Amino acid sequence: MKVAVMGYGTVGSGVVEVIDSHNDVIKKRTGGEALEVAHILDLRDFPDDSHAALFTKDFNDILNDSEVKVVAETMGGVEPAFTFTMQLLEAGKSVVTSNKELVAQKGLKLLEAAEKSGANYLFEASVGGGIPIIRPMSQCLAANNIEGVAGILNGTTNFILTKMIEEGMDFDDALKLAQDNGYAEKDPTADIEGFDACRKVCILASLAFGKHVYPNQVQTEGITNITLEDVAYISSVKGVIKLLGQIKYISDDKIAAFVSPAVVQHGSQLASVNDVFNAILVRGDAVGDVCFYGPGAGKLPTASAVVADMVDAAKHIFRKKIFGWGAGFEGYVVDYKDTIEMPFYVRAKAPTNKVQSAFGEVKFLSRIGQPSNEVAFITDKMTENQLRDKLTNIDVINIIKVTSY
Ligand code: HSE
Repeated sequence: MKVAVMGYGTVGSGVVEVIDSHNDVIKKRTGGEALEVAHILDLRDFPDDSHAALFTKDFNDILNDSEVKVVAETMGGVEPAFTFTMQLLEAGKSVVTSNKELVAQKGLKLLEAAEKSGANYLFEASVGGGIPIIRPMSQCLAANNIEGVAGILNGTTNFILTKMIEEGMDFDDALKLAQDNGYAEKDPTADIEGFDACRKVCILASLAFGKHVYPNQVQTEGITNITLEDVAYISSVKGVIKLLGQIKYISDDKIAAFVSPAVVQHGSQLASVNDVFNAILVRGDAVGDVCFYGPGAGKLPTASAVVADMVDAAKHIFRKKIFGWGAGFEGYVVDYKDTIEMPFYVRAKAPTNKVQSAFGEVKFLSRIGQPSNEVAFITDKMTENQLRDKLTNIDVINIIKVTSY
């Protein structure tokens, strides 16, 4: 079957490589048909590439090729990926993607277009890189009411935090290493400020509860405020800092969804997820906790998920997969700061008695080299707004949520 690839960056070139090297196994999975890459769309020139003859700069070469039934969109970003995907779906071609920004921003519109034309829009690679999570959530856990999801959803930040925790490495050096390994976004701000994890939370929340959640509904905090001092205090209580995306069911018409650094205690399934690995813990009311783990970024792991979707789309030409979500509404995603209670780690410049008079008895932490005017402590469970009220007269250096997952 003829297919096309739009975007020949890290993931797109990985897709072509996996198709080239795995067509024997792909044939078995499709029931006999190999995937044949007929076009590669990219504005750049790749004169020395072994697929040089397949490159085009004109999207219409793909749109107008009636033999191409499945297209992989690995361009990233909203435009022109949205316009191209929309036109392909309207023309009845199935599209598979690793583009989490597009699914998070425009997934509802694209799923509606696919519904209308009978094509499929699949996005297994958009969350967790090579980890199977979209199908397990929508199919294998279909009998459950989802109570919550907590995930390490960004490989770059997990890599950086692991290097800081285990090797005392400087933030910038660890980021550079993640970029060299092809984990980071084109603009790594999306990784370190939590925007990439936010987009993945949107996709998981939309899938888990059937209503589209947009990035501006997910309160998002990145890892740029995390220091080696915080790492040291938290390791003294057998914890690690992870960038977590959290989604909580509140009622049928209310959920909370947020991204932030969080303290995870040793012993949690999420605590030992290191380097570029991701893990997504899903809490279902029938199954309990299930955890999906694997490489969350990188060329071939992500390509593995994209090609799996291409195989699935090839097997479902003119057969619609039941998959997706509907529209949300105003007030559906609530402010977690008012609603979700949890303990917090606080580091501040303050005497212990001032902390005790605001919080009562708290657990104080210590680290080597701790200045005499610095305290770090873990509070009881409370909402973030209650915490901020209690901290009004305290000179805070950092606050990190403590998760129960
Ligand atoms: N920049 C992303 C990450 C790539 O580091 O997880 C995979 O989505």
